[in-house]
Amino acid sequence: MRLNAALASAIFSSATLLGYVHADESEAAPDATSTGIARPTFTPTTIKAPFLEQFTDDWDRRWTPSHAKKQDSKSDEDWAYVGEWAVEEPTVFKGIEGDKGLVVKNAAAHHAISAKFPKKLDNKGKTLVVQYEVKLQNSLVCGGAYMKLLQDNKKLHAEEFSNATPYVIMFGPDKCGATNKVHFIFRHKNPKTGEYEEKHLKAPPAARTTKLTTLYTLIVRPDQTFEILIDGESAKNGTLLEDFTPPVNPPKEIDDPKDKKPDDWVDEPKIPDPNAKKPDDWDEDAPYEIVDEEATKPDDWLEDEPTTIPDPEAEKPEDWDDEEDGDWIPPSIPNPKCSEVSGCGPWKPPMKRNPAYKGKWTPPLIDNPAYKGPWAPRKIPNPNYFEDKTPANFEPIGAVGFEIWTMQNDILFDNIYIGHSVEDAEAFRKETFDVKKPIELAEEEAQKPKPVDKAQTSVSFKEAPLTYIREKVDLFVTEAKQNPIQAVKLVPEVAGGLGAILLATILFIVGAISASSPAPAGKGAAQKGKEAASAAKEKSAEGVSSSADTKSGATKRNTKSSSE
Ligand SMILES: *[C@@H]1O[C@H](CO)[C@@H](O)[C@H](O)[C@H]1NC(C)=O
Repeated sequence: MRLNAALASAIFSSATLLGYVHADESEAAPDATSTGIARPTFTPTTIKAPFLEQFTDDWDRRWTPSHAKKQDSKSDEDWAYVGEWAVEEPTVFKGIEGDKGLVVKNAAAHHAISAKFPKKLDNKGKTLVVQYEVKLQNSLVCGGAYMKLLQDNKKLHAEEFSNATPYVIMFGPDKCGATNKVHFIFRHKNPKTGEYEEKHLKAPPAARTTKLTTLYTLIVRPDQTFEILIDGESAKNGTLLEDFTPPVNPPKEIDDPKDKKPDDWVDEPKIPDPNAKKPDDWDEDAPYEIVDEEATKPDDWLEDEPTTIPDPEAEKPEDWDDEEDGDWIPPSIPNPKCSEVSGCGPWKPPMKRNPAYKGKWTPPLIDNPAYKGPWAPRKIPNPNYFEDKTPANFEPIGAVGFEIWTMQNDILFDNIYIGHSVEDAEAFRKETFDVKKPIELAEEEAQKPKPVDKAQTSVSFKEAPLTYIREKVDLFVTEAKQNPIQAVKLVPEVAGGLGAILLATILFIVGAISASSPAPAGKGAAQKGKEAASAAKEKSAEGVSSSADTKSGATKRNTKSSSE
């Protein structure tokens, strides 16, 4: 798992570099979508909600990245939220022209950003609908893409948003190794102690790790039921009162800690029958094995051959003194004649299992007349008992934020709806997700590898070396974006050469090509190519080492919720 992650990460870093170069190329000569599919152009929705975000150009008036230190109660170390955010169009399988989303820019970094609601959202007696799109443009091997709805309070400073900021609901995908879930966690206040406790959904649905947009919807109704939808389809139903751990309401009664098991408590259900007697014909002394009287001596048995003989090759040592050392006797070796037959020496019949063997007699077990059953402490009323029948009356929510750590960058969030109307959220989905998803699917289909002729280039290296390498690189980049392992298999010369000479050659060629395109763009592109080249070297080294840190990173990440 880790090796794969490291490999994929290293390849992606390299592929990203080539991707930039590639993108610059296509900008110079813009054409339609690779599939020829007509893309609609983005127009903002007119649907209203307590909070609705499409990352239109004024997004940064609402969203503030955090530069807080991450608090980890389990160690002295803190991590700063250094991860960068950008608002941009998707780079993979774009659906709607001009449709921007919020993008996690750095792999293996802590990211935090939040947006205050115009007005605090009070859900008492209402339905809560939380919906947003996640597009894993680099897939997701290890990382979170969940959202937090933050508790409204006076101290809600966006610049200081961290894992320690109290939230009301955490909802969305999280994946690392074998863990893959759509979290639904809510923080519930114990009305007796005033303490908050995280309630985690039992058996959460699995997150999608496709590079296509996935739409996650959470609906919590005033009757305490909830539903999670993925891409508009129901993925989980349940109730806040039954499907969370630990449960919202503690047990009414608990074991009395003062109650102790009495010394005379009989908890053995069976005892040996005191009235049973050993049967007269039970011979406890009959041996386990007896001589097999029916056995006969094998025909090839050599009764007169000894089992060992003096080693004929042994020689008396020269310094042996018969008077001091006694008579010299050669050492014995196994008689070689015996290894070819059933055996040598006097024959004895073998032993066999004694049919009369019974062993020691024990009385049979009977039900214990004094048995009182298993002991359990008596129950007493739970002093901490309370009953909250309406946990769906969440505390007022003042902001929404993403506070995540991820090994894969380029996660894009879009079309956030937070409000009270299932119908509006659905209408919003129809305007956005339902429009882009089929286009993304068609894009993906069009870019699927066509295995037979794809590794072919139109010219040979000898005829036109520059074109040949260009084509190979383009092929690798296209493939690597979708399936890095396959890309390495398909175009091994590009993957293998990335760290070495070929990279230099490619960049030289890219530079040459860029320089030959219209002056201003060309210069920029050439410069970018060079910058990308040096960045790539650092990046691929970084990619490998940070993947190796995945485990500790993941652990850090996972401690987050519990440390809050
Ligand atoms: C949840 O309940 C709704 C309404 O009864 C139903 O349509 C849906 O299929 C259910 N979802 C699942 C995952 O069972």
